[in-house]
Amino acid sequence: MRPVELPQLPGLNQLRVVLGVCGGIAAYKSAELVRLLVKQGCEVQVVMTESATQFVAPLTFQALSGKSVHVSQWPVENSDTGSIERGMPHIDISRNADFLLIAPCTANSMAKYAHGFADNLLDNLVLARNCPMAIAPAMNVEMWNNPATQRNISQLKTDGINVFGPAAGEQACGEVGSGRMLEPFEIVLELARAVNHKPLAGKKVLVTAGPTFEAIDPVRGITNRSSGKMGYALAQAAWLMGAEVSLVSGPTALPTPYGVPMVSVQSARQMHAAVFGQIEQQDLFIGVAAVADYGIKNPSTQKQKKQLGQAAGLNMEFELNPDILADVGEFASTRKKSLTVVGFAAETENLDDYANRKLDSKKAQFIIGNLAQNALGADQTELTIYSKKLKPERLGSMDKLRAAQTVLTFISKHS
Ligand SMILES: Cc1cc2nc3c(=O)[nH]c(=O)nc-3n(C[C@H](O)[C@H](O)[C@H](O)COP(=O)(O)O)c2cc1C
Repeated sequence: MRPVELPQLPGLNQLRVVLGVCGGIAAYKSAELVRLLVKQGCEVQVVMTESATQFVAPLTFQALSGKSVHVSQWPVENSDTGSIERGMPHIDISRNADFLLIAPCTANSMAKYAHGFADNLLDNLVLARNCPMAIAPAMNVEMWNNPATQRNISQLKTDGINVFGPAAGEQACGEVGSGRMLEPFEIVLELARAVNHKPLAGKKVLVTAGPTFEAIDPVRGITNRSSGKMGYALAQAAWLMGAEVSLVSGPTALPTPYGVPMVSVQSARQMHAAVFGQIEQQDLFIGVAAVADYGIKNPSTQKQKKQLGQAAGLNMEFELNPDILADVGEFASTRKKSLTVVGFAAETENLDDYANRKLDSKKAQFIIGNLAQNALGADQTELTIYSKKLKPERLGSMDKLRAAQTVLTFISKHS
């Protein structure tokens, strides 16, 4: 499997993370976690339990983090000088940290944290910390479902400890169910969400993304070159900023943004129905999808065959599709005034003019404009935010996740 590479996430560069690794089979995944954290610019100090060293050698983490790994709480003799190292590692290590992350966290260690036991270095660091902390539990499904474990997890949540996961699925022991550790990239995303300011906390955000596909027959259709990258970046950024996000997406080749439930659709009509199935509950609607203006009237139910020997071309009848953004704008202006409506305008020319016109015609509070020839399919974008009250806000060229965060910060300030 190809490793997942993440864009630079907010709040992680130079974050000092103590990564506690406990003795579970998922400890091998923590090596990838260290690699991803270091790539984000985190300073990672690994602390292992004795049991964890049965699964992965400390040298692996030392090589990946560039720092000696701590296991014992007892002072060790310096091999160069022969003297005993001074200091209080059981307190100092987490005192100098911005975040204490324990991944994997075993059932045993969870039980100890829930009750305040401290008979190894990592337990002491948990008790003595003055920074935020999260655990990523990893265990067999029966261990996870055990009432003792469930009591411990709810105690840890009450104590203000973040719990990342666990996921459900196939387990190393061969059983299937809850208790799998999140994938390393998912833990990094959870960490970014935990450490950042959350201006969208408590808000429900609905994003549409990607192209639509208008069927001609069962195997052919008309679509466009939207990759979905901007909409997916907006959905991921809104989640990172604390929102509860839903995504309605046309066909794309992208992985679903983490933490975001997604409805997959094909045609503009399906996308319209999926949006109106959940618009009532939303606080913010962002229409990024490149929706076809026209669909095929009466698409063939059988694959169309080439008419050999005919000089004439193929005739198709088109019909106007519903205008999702205009209908959401109308819904907001007549039935839900608290709903903020944001549309996208990808134009090849006269961007300012078309975007300003769209503010009126779609009854949107904000239109985000970009030049289609620069943005479609690219990783970078250069956006302008148009609104009725403010002058256009021109953002420089940046990657789509950063552009998405900038847009959402602007909208949360000005709506
Ligand atoms: C092969 C093997 C795999 C294990 N995997 C897990 C696991 O995934 N999760 C867990 O909670 N315990 C697991 N255990 C049990 C822990 O290693 C055991 O409870 C240990 O005392 C945990 O110590 P620690 O919490 O100090 O790291 C496993 C044990 C063995 C022998």
